[in-house]
Amino acid sequence: MLRKVIALAALGLALTAGPAAAATHPEHPHQLGWSFQGPFGKFDKAQLQRGYKVYREVCASCHAMNLMYFRNLGQKGGPFFDEKYPNPNDNPYVKALAAEIQVNDIDSETGDTIQRPATSADRFPSPFPNEAAARASNGGAMPPDLSVIIKARHDGPNYVYSVLTGYANPPPGLTVAPGQFYNPYYPGDLAAYWKGDHHSVPKGGFIGMPPPLGTGKVTFDDGAPSTVAQQAKDVTAFLTWASEPKMEERKAFGLAAMIYLLLFTVLLWFSYKRIWRNVAH
Ligand code: HEC
Repeated sequence: MLRKVIALAALGLALTAGPAAAATHPEHPHQLGWSFQGPFGKFDKAQLQRGYKVYREVCASCHAMNLMYFRNLGQKGGPFFDEKYPNPNDNPYVKALAAEIQVNDIDSETGDTIQRPATSADRFPSPFPNEAAARASNGGAMPPDLSVIIKARHDGPNYVYSVLTGYANPPPGLTVAPGQFYNPYYPGDLAAYWKGDHHSVPKGGFIGMPPPLGTGKVTFDDGAPSTVAQQAKDVTAFLTWASEPKMEERKAFGLAAMIYLLLFTVLLWFSYKRIWRNVAH
């Protein structure tokens, strides 16, 4: 009986160890300092505004953000929040940003599909009508929805920044299929495409996204330099905010709760001392 158990355990180990040993690990992401890190972290509003511009002008042609409405841009903590307009639907800047974008609608008289400028109450429109169309335009790869991508990836902000800035020339000996790009920060297993020594398989993987950023690709309204690193940082900050728009409130609440608990502990300690003052124990 015992032998059987041991044999089964060994078989289990062998089965699980096999594929894991074959895969290479991607390069560890760059560790950047972000304004929103740590218990006191806050979003940098100017950075979120630049990041929205990068998303809108570059990423939105391939990636949807289905959980976002234009009004979210003007809510408390959002990139375009203005105290004068506590209701973001009244915020003229948000309205103007929405109106720059066309969305599909139905003509209520004729029932025909029409296009009209978006309002603050509209969702961000998807660049493709469905997944098949999205894949057909991207060589078979599916650009994922970016609404919560930062939460969906380990070390999200550093990972997304590193993928965006990490495209590299494939090392000689690595065969890259058309429509694919070598990226050391993107997970994958390149062993099958590698002609060199099997102990030195390059790290990373092939990604079906052409390098989206480039120097000068977006003109920042605040005069920030339009480098690839700047664009990548800003769009990552924007995506982080989109993944958790209430982060600042959560952290402020956590801090208040900690202070309250601390005061409560001190009070409790003194009342304990007082109650037991004349009691031998
Ligand atoms: C030309 C279309 C296109 C543009 C523009 C584009 N992407 Fe992509 N992106 C893709 C495709 C396709 C994939 C899926 C790649 C794959 O599955 O190999 C992808 C994947 C990703 C991923 C997923 C990585 C993962 O771990 O799954 C992230 C993050 C991403 N893109 C962010 C961005 C950002 C940010 C921008 C704007 C700066 C952008 N993309 C612009 C097509 C695009």
